[in-house]
Amino acid sequence: MPILTIESTCDETAAAIIASDGSVLGESVATQEALHEKFRGVVPEVAARAHVERILPVVDSAIRAAQVDPLDLSAIAVADRPGLAGSLLVGLVAAKTLAVAWNKPLVAINHLHAHLYACQLASTTSLYPSIGMVVSGGHTSLYACESPLDLEYLGGTIDDAAGEAFDKVAAMLQLDFPGGPAVAKLAEQGNRTAHQFPRSLIHQQSFDFSFSGLKTAVRYAIVGPGQQDFSKINLTLKAKSDLCASFEAAVVDVLVKKAEKAIQKRGYSNLIVGGGVAANGYLREQLKASAEKNGYQLNIAPLQWCTDNAVMGALALEKINRGEFAPLDLDITPGLQRGF
Ligand code: KG4
Ligand code: ZN
Repeated sequence: MPILTIESTCDETAAAIIASDGSVLGESVATQEALHEKFRGVVPEVAARAHVERILPVVDSAIRAAQVDPLDLSAIAVADRPGLAGSLLVGLVAAKTLAVAWNKPLVAINHLHAHLYACQLASTTSLYPSIGMVVSGGHTSLYACESPLDLEYLGGTIDDAAGEAFDKVAAMLQLDFPGGPAVAKLAEQGNRTAHQFPRSLIHQQSFDFSFSGLKTAVRYAIVGPGQQDFSKINLTLKAKSDLCASFEAAVVDVLVKKAEKAIQKRGYSNLIVGGGVAANGYLREQLKASAEKNGYQLNIAPLQWCTDNAVMGALALEKINRGEFAPLDLDITPGLQRGF
């Protein structure tokens, strides 16, 4: 029997109906990009209110697309961690309410583990054990994954996530929101060695990351120390492209190097990569080159499942197989600390 999965951790309201073999029967995603564009970043309260408006229409549309009777569902799954508190609450309350109304068990899923599971969904063979790298707007983390549900946190960002750095660099350059795709587009025509931006912690043994110094370095390259006003900058297309290309090279160098180190340290032969930044063309290209050079298997989430979606919530099927259901008094875990 199929399950309903709900995703509302940040600024996408999404629902999917997934069959017990993992195939997608129906899906619906409502993005909020237009609402956050003018702020060049996700505004938590705006996001939560938009989820309130969209959650039931999105669930309804996924159910209609799948042509299933809600009473034939076997469970309702929801991402309960990590994410923006207000956004998570809307998804969780909707999931609990539907679980009670339709008398279905509730399953809680970790959004970051689900980002990695998008790789398994696209594969016909088991990808475990593997090193998992999550690169999203809010998280940059490495895990040793024994199975889709048994993940050991190896390290993660001590300040900003890679996606956050992309978004802020885009904002400084007055590019579109979300910033990742806009920076990546300009970077394609830029010179990756025009600026020598820092590759923080790249030589450290730990699996931690830091991107805030890189953000500051880009800022100084644009306006100089002390200046605040980015709206008056007047850079040529070539200057912007070089900044984007050099910035992207710095982020990608660090991600690739740390992933290689984790593979070597654990002796695993699989790397799985998920999250919005995994859609980045240069990162995908460099990881592919690294996998060929170092002899490991690389599985990056398919493009359509890199950014937030409810299909990756198929991870709930693994929990159901283990009999891991959530109680109706389940609370959200926004996860302000590291280590998810
Ligand atoms: O996984 P996601 O949809 O949301 C979170 O869980 O945070 O990731 C969103 C992030 C944003 O920061 C966005 O700018 C970034 O993914 N992103 C990209 C690309 N597409 C999305 N970053 C770099 N290159 C891209 N092509
Ligand atoms: Zn995400």
